[in-house]
Amino acid sequence: MPDLIAPHGSDTINPLFVADPAQNAALATEAETLPSVVMSSAGAANAVMLAGGYFNPLKGFMDRADALSVAENMTTAGGLFWPTPVLNLVAEARGIAPGSRIALKDPNVAGEPVLGVMEVTAIETFSDDDMALLTQQVYGTMDAEHPGVAAFNAQGRVCLSGPVQVLNFSYFKTEFPGTFRTAVEIRDAIARNGWSKVVAFQTRNPMHRAHEELCHLAMDRLGADGLVIHMLLGKLKPGDIPADVRDAAIRKMVELYFPPDSAMVTGYGFDMLYAGPREALLHAVFRQNMGATHLIVGRDHAGVGDYYGAFDAQTIFNDIPEDALKIKIFEADHTAYSKKLHKVVMMREAPDHTKEDFVILSGTRVREMLGRGEAPPKEFSRPEVAQILMDYYQGLDG
Ligand code: ADX
Repeated sequence: MPDLIAPHGSDTINPLFVADPAQNAALATEAETLPSVVMSSAGAANAVMLAGGYFNPLKGFMDRADALSVAENMTTAGGLFWPTPVLNLVAEARGIAPGSRIALKDPNVAGEPVLGVMEVTAIETFSDDDMALLTQQVYGTMDAEHPGVAAFNAQGRVCLSGPVQVLNFSYFKTEFPGTFRTAVEIRDAIARNGWSKVVAFQTRNPMHRAHEELCHLAMDRLGADGLVIHMLLGKLKPGDIPADVRDAAIRKMVELYFPPDSAMVTGYGFDMLYAGPREALLHAVFRQNMGATHLIVGRDHAGVGDYYGAFDAQTIFNDIPEDALKIKIFEADHTAYSKKLHKVVMMREAPDHTKEDFVILSGTRVREMLGRGEAPPKEFSRPEVAQILMDYYQGLDG
């Protein structure tokens, strides 16, 4: 069996989910006696990522020094490469003393059950300057209209840091049993398949033909053994397509247009940051942790609106130390169907083409068409995928 790529920052992966049932139950009992806080959705998503090994080798939530250092230098105070702060921010911490153990309650599940138990090593309140620095460095903007900036700044400013033990995977395992996977589970599946060169595809969308072809191109050019389609299952901005619909569309596409056993369809429990380049780096960290050797980074990866340059999420990888990550990226140019060549191509590889030679549709245009029950051209979207999306849009009120 080939050796898998090492996790980030350690030789073996160390998920923070408490897998031993007796220990898990004992912690759940202890949690009933502890002071508690209801987490923000972003904090809970961080706990789920820590639980699954995606945020290896972190042992818990960052403190102020780590968060500021990550924001400014992309390393923790201890020197570990890390691109975005992993925080547990709350509005207030009444009744909680530094050094105490607390129960973390899940805001995303009815009844706010306990998600984990943490040891609070420090309680620090971020100043206006701290929040501004974190926001500007991570998102590259302070604009409150940016959905990631808005979510980050709505969380509260009291930073509870320290090690965490996580008792479950929030709503992800129950709502997406066939798709949600931990980094450890994906590593194990890659090893079982005997794959050594493994391409990861990040997505928060249903996969149209450009997405599909990017995966085929990356696999062919890298000579990869397999592909892991890894979709975001957490919160998105209004207007984005819900995870169950994306999941169904992606599964249909893989079933019909990928060779058998060449692609795994999986997902992870995290809220989208829309942080463009910084999020691309985070994506690379956690794909390395799940055992991928390559991550596809295309046009406007993890972006929103016009906040980032179309390829900033690729060039940021040139600005990090060479030994920061073991995973490599597959840089994809803007990809679209060529009416001249009758296939999907990367635009830079068709230098004789003009814009009119490609089938390019904006997201807004595609949504309008689907909402009217009109399938986008088959050059843009596979008809079977379009059908699933039309069914969804037509089921929406209004
Ligand atoms: S993302 O927020 O998860 O990046 P999306 O699911 O649309 O959004 O994109 C997934 C991946 O495909 C990203 O790497 C993105 O850059 C890439 N991508 C999407 N569409 C295109 C395209 N037409 N050309 C090149 N890359 C693309």
